[in-house]
Amino acid sequence: MDLADKLIANGSLALDEYRDLIAGCTPDQAQRLAQAATRIRRQHFGDRIYTRGLIELTSHCANDCLYCGLRRSNRQAHRYRLTTQQVLDCADTGYELGFRTFVIQGGEDPYFTDQRLCDLVSALRQRYPDCAITLSMGQRSRESYRRLRQAGADRYLLRHESADPAHYARLHPAGMTLESRMQCLSDLREEGFAVGVGFMVGSPYQTPGHLARDVAFVEAFRPEMCGIGPFVPHHATPFASFPVGGVDQTCLMLSILRIVAPTCLLPATTALATIDPQGRERGILSGANVVMPNLSPVGVRGWYDLYDNKACTGEEAAECAGCLAGRMASIGCHLVVDRGDPPGW
Ligand code: 5AD
Ligand code: FES
Repeated sequence: MDLADKLIANGSLALDEYRDLIAGCTPDQAQRLAQAATRIRRQHFGDRIYTRGLIELTSHCANDCLYCGLRRSNRQAHRYRLTTQQVLDCADTGYELGFRTFVIQGGEDPYFTDQRLCDLVSALRQRYPDCAITLSMGQRSRESYRRLRQAGADRYLLRHESADPAHYARLHPAGMTLESRMQCLSDLREEGFAVGVGFMVGSPYQTPGHLARDVAFVEAFRPEMCGIGPFVPHHATPFASFPVGGVDQTCLMLSILRIVAPTCLLPATTALATIDPQGRERGILSGANVVMPNLSPVGVRGWYDLYDNKACTGEEAAECAGCLAGRMASIGCHLVVDRGDPPGW
């Protein structure tokens, strides 16, 4: 029995076994893992794929992550903020299209004080009592997370980026530590959020040992969600000349995560769609069960510029929804009108 079969049989491996599996995975092993992951996805979710309408609130960011086009040192970046009215208009469009979860995502923008962000969450909560509200607004204080939860937010996405402290440090400016990231994740959980973590595949300096630690972290922390996508270089960052992450390796990581965390919500991300025209379908066929079409106004789409050549920046929300419905149908799945709460919530 090789490591792929062992993982499929036991649902878990030791840290060095994850590393060896990731480092030496053959196409045949990857195929077996994808089949097992798809079977497990179907056991828990059937052919149902959850949708989350993504609203990119602000491209301002006080932070300086080395991989991200929104980093404050990028003087070429175009900065915008949506008004509450613009967000509500996006949500109206999404609701019409059947979305029952809205994800409000943005850079770490000091303009969005607790008061402003809570007002926005309250407005959405009041208008859409039947929808889930997910925030993805970076590191904030525990007090801030408490207020946002009270204002009506249900879930929070904060990718851990790398579960290896030294690798984490290479991706981030001095002063940003994995420890403080982990503190935020535990604060979010204690404040009652469903919590999403995540990481890039193929980020600079990443080794199979680092990815093994990411898997072990997901196994131990048991997040409700885990967003992963390939690293894609952005031309105006220090990582401009690093290579793009691999489709196959990203799909392999999705399969391993589905097997290790059977009920975890795993999106087939825009970054995956960016590096492969069939990326979303391939993600689902590797174990993902969520898609996050963009609801941001088309006029600002290009300005939420995390990495180069981002997919779907020109399409209207309705076009993306139609496109995704067709893509999912082509692989025997369908988008559901549902909050898509994490199992057990
Ligand atoms: N390539 C891929 N993903 C990126 N992100 C930021 N920059 C990049 C990039 N260059 C991801 C990070 C972040 C999320 C919002 O987008 O993981 O948490
Ligand atoms: Fe946006 Fe296909 S999902 S165009």
